[in-house]
Amino acid sequence: MSNIVVLGVQWGDEGKGKIVDLLTEDADVVARYQGGHNAGHTVMVRNKQFILHLIPSGILHKGKKCIIGNGVVIHPRALIDEIEGLKKRRVTVGRNLFISGRAHVIMPYHTLLDGKHEEARGSQKIGTTGRGIGPAYVDKMSRTGFRMIDLLDSSSFKAKLKANLEDINFLLEKKYRQKKISANRIYNQYMKFADYLGPFVTDTVVLTNDLIDKGRNVLFEGAQGTLLDIDHGTYPFVTSSSASAGGVCTGLGVSPAKVDGIIGVMKAYTTRVGEGPFPTELQNSLGEELRARGGEYGATTGRARRCGWLDLVSLKHAIRINGFTGIALTKLDVLDGLDKLKVCTSYTYKDPANSCGCSKKGKPCKVTDMPQTVKVLDECEPVYKELDGWHKSTKGATKMKDLPKQARAYMDYISEALNVDIDLISTGQKRDEIIFVNRPFKKAKKKK
Ligand code: IMP
Repeated sequence: MSNIVVLGVQWGDEGKGKIVDLLTEDADVVARYQGGHNAGHTVMVRNKQFILHLIPSGILHKGKKCIIGNGVVIHPRALIDEIEGLKKRRVTVGRNLFISGRAHVIMPYHTLLDGKHEEARGSQKIGTTGRGIGPAYVDKMSRTGFRMIDLLDSSSFKAKLKANLEDINFLLEKKYRQKKISANRIYNQYMKFADYLGPFVTDTVVLTNDLIDKGRNVLFEGAQGTLLDIDHGTYPFVTSSSASAGGVCTGLGVSPAKVDGIIGVMKAYTTRVGEGPFPTELQNSLGEELRARGGEYGATTGRARRCGWLDLVSLKHAIRINGFTGIALTKLDVLDGLDKLKVCTSYTYKDPANSCGCSKKGKPCKVTDMPQTVKVLDECEPVYKELDGWHKSTKGATKMKDLPKQARAYMDYISEALNVDIDLISTGQKRDEIIFVNRPFKKAKKKK
């Protein structure tokens, strides 16, 4: 048995859905540990597209157990719609889905406040997905949140809801000039959700650890990318949860000693949705071309993704934090046909106030570690290495030898610079458009 984590290396949208879906073939259990319905995982199965937001992509495989862990925030309506949508498409959702009783619940006022807070931030807005994710995690941390298990105790739920709404309504009325929210409406609606979702709710900490102890292969599925991690991302332009590998332990109640491998899903270039610094962003026709070729529009919000070159400074940061045992490189085919490719190897930063704290005081300095503030990162200029592109198509390649030598050189360069193996290469959207250099579960087992 072995247990591996799959998560994004960059700002999310690296194509994790497909990689999780593929690796699920070797797994018995797929468990989500953070995030909510802000995520959108696109998976193609026999030419049919599925977009999953809350349910682990493993649901598309018969006989696999899917767990939504305590680190996830759940919008009950969105989850019910997702279950119903899958059932309509003849995907089995029943005794294969388990929801943590400790997972926090997104309430209607979280969604409302997400929007209002963003409006109030004006030009400083984060560019959230507007799904109520941040406010739900705020309530979790301030210990006023509802957990899935709390929905199953109707009288306590009602009393706490009334108490919570006193503060929420004060904020809505006084600050945002909004109408009060009625406790009864939410109560009635959420009790219906509880009836529907109650049968799925269980103690997933016990379940997950029992399955691990029984020797099952577990795949831990991250929802966002490392650079969106609340602690290690480009704060405050981040999501509100622990997207990096450390989140597995708190978000599922699993010891780090049980994690055998960590696969980072890395796009062959970089994209970002929402606001925040992005040193290698291409604000030109090439950026637009990458967006069009890569279909770079959010699976959840439909927003256009910003596109740019690969950035070794932020990638090294992600590798350091997660300790990836292997990389799954995605969307290599999107780079087909470009004459030259650029990879950012360091940044140049010049700041008379010396806010980077380096010894060069006011003179341009070379930055090789991820700056701690977005102010510094925003003012960093990328330093590039240029590599040859390729003109032969890589689309659908399934063997290394089918790739043009320049594509292999590009990957070798990345792998050496980051000191990590590339274990999988995705060459298209479909399940079989993939090169397996190593099978992650086998590799993790061998290492044990
Ligand atoms: P929130 O998670 O909705 O609060 O949004 C915070 C930031 O994270 C925004 O920049 C979002 O665009 C970004 N974000 C959240 N989820 C995803 C995702 O699944 N892919 C890419 N970006 C995301």
